[in-house]
Order: sequence, then structure tokens, then C-alpha cells
Amino acid sequence: MSRQRSPATDYIRSLYAAQDTLLADIDNMLKSQNIAMHVGAEEGKLLQVLAAMHGVKTIVEVGTLAGYSTIWMARGLPGDEYGGGHIYTLNKDPRHIAMAKESFAKSDVAERITMLEGDAKDSLEKLAQDKAFKAKPLDMVFIDADKISYNIYLDWAEQHVRKGGLIIADNTFLFGSVWLESPPEGVAPTTWNAMRRFNERLADQSRYQSVIIPTAEGLSVAIKLF
Ligand SMILES: C[S@@+](CC[C@H](N)C(=O)[O-])C[C@H]1O[C@@H](n2cnc3c(N)ncnc32)[C@H](O)[C@@H]1O
Repeated sequence: MSRQRSPATDYIRSLYAAQDTLLADIDNMLKSQNIAMHVGAEEGKLLQVLAAMHGVKTIVEVGTLAGYSTIWMARGLPGDEYGGGHIYTLNKDPRHIAMAKESFAKSDVAERITMLEGDAKDSLEKLAQDKAFKAKPLDMVFIDADKISYNIYLDWAEQHVRKGGLIIADNTFLFGSVWLESPPEGVAPTTWNAMRRFNERLADQSRYQSVIIPTAEGLSVAIKLF
């Protein structure tokens, strides 16, 4: 959700995570529409570095919005000269899908991106049956869609991410509520319980080597050990 700025994030953004014109245009377009759901530039860069650091070739992203995080991650994938990488990104909102299509068409990584339209649960089922998708190991899943469904996305990731692969999820502090004794006003108890359950699952050190990076929103990073 909305990204807080601080002198530290400004510094990181200017020195390590400078946006090119395309990313800046997407960021500005979303801001002009009062949509503040995308990762910050420093988080986009972090996702890119994690993917590159882990030798990730195939990513599934649940929750595209306008393609801002997708493009950051796609740029961390190997190019064709190194065997090629691919990101499948899932979205159901027609307005967001149109924005993402425009972003991808203008990008330098369009050929590395496939967007699946419709509810993510259906798209994940379809993807699991797709021949080209099944032919390669899945190295990373990035979950950044409806919070109530995070455990469903994790069920799917547990089935399909390769052993040693990454499961990453944004907003796992659930707007600063997960550590409270009960859900605060404005946070649905079902969503609050779901996110706490999600975090407890990823905290199981017999199944994951994991942590929540204390970004403003909480970014869970887990290596799948099974
Ligand atoms: C937080 S935004 C994604 C931001 C994006 N990852 C970024 O940082 O640039 C969440 C997106 O997930 C989509 N979404 C929410 N629930 C969904 C569902 N059940 N299936 C598919 N997409 C969904 C929304 O339409 C929205 O575009």
C-alpha cells in the first residue's frame, strides 16, 4: 500500500534505485490517480537484486497493478544470451490490466513478461497446466494481491516453487496490525487472522529459511526448504 518516504528511502532511491523514464512515468501516473499500492523504488530494486542474487529464471507475480514491480523484477532476470528468464504476472482488474499492458509494451523487457488476466486463483490453476510453464522449474513467487487470499497463494507456491526457491510477499505487517492483540478498526478480522496465519506458516524454520524485512509495509522473504 502507500509507501512512506524518509530521508533514508530518498537517499537509497537516488543512489541505488533511480527510476528510468518508464518507471518514473508509471509512478507518476499512479500518483496522479491516487493509486498508492505499488512497491517503492527501493523495494522494486530489492526484488530485482534478490532475483538476480538467487539465479532466478522464472517468477510468478500475484498482483500486477500497472506493472511497476513486474518491470523491476523482469530486469533482474537473465537475458536470452544467458538462457532467458520469464515472469508470469496475474491481475483481474481490467483498468489495471490496461495500464500494465501499456507499461510492458513501452518497456525493454516486454518479451520476458506474460500477463494472465482474471482471478489469480483461476490463473494459477491454468498456469499449473501450461506446458511451457511446467517445462521449467519455478524459482520465485511474489505475492502482492488481495490479503485475504495470501494463504491460498502460499498453498499454490508450496506445490509449485522448486526446493530452494523463493517465496516473497508484500504487506505482511498488514498496515501495522499483525502484532496487535486484536484487529484494529478498519482491518477485517478474517484478513487479520489470515495474515497472521500466513506469517506463522513462513516462520516455520523446519520448512523455510525466512524473515520479514522491516520495510514500511513488511516484506516477507522465504527460501523454501522442501
Ligand atoms: C498491491 S497491487 C500490486 C502492486 C504491484 N505488485 C506493484 O508493486 O507494482 C495489487 C493488485 O492485485 C490485483 N488483485 C487483487 N486481488 C486479485 C485477485 N484475486 N486476482 C488477481 N488480481 C488481484 C489488484 O487488481 C491490484 O492490481
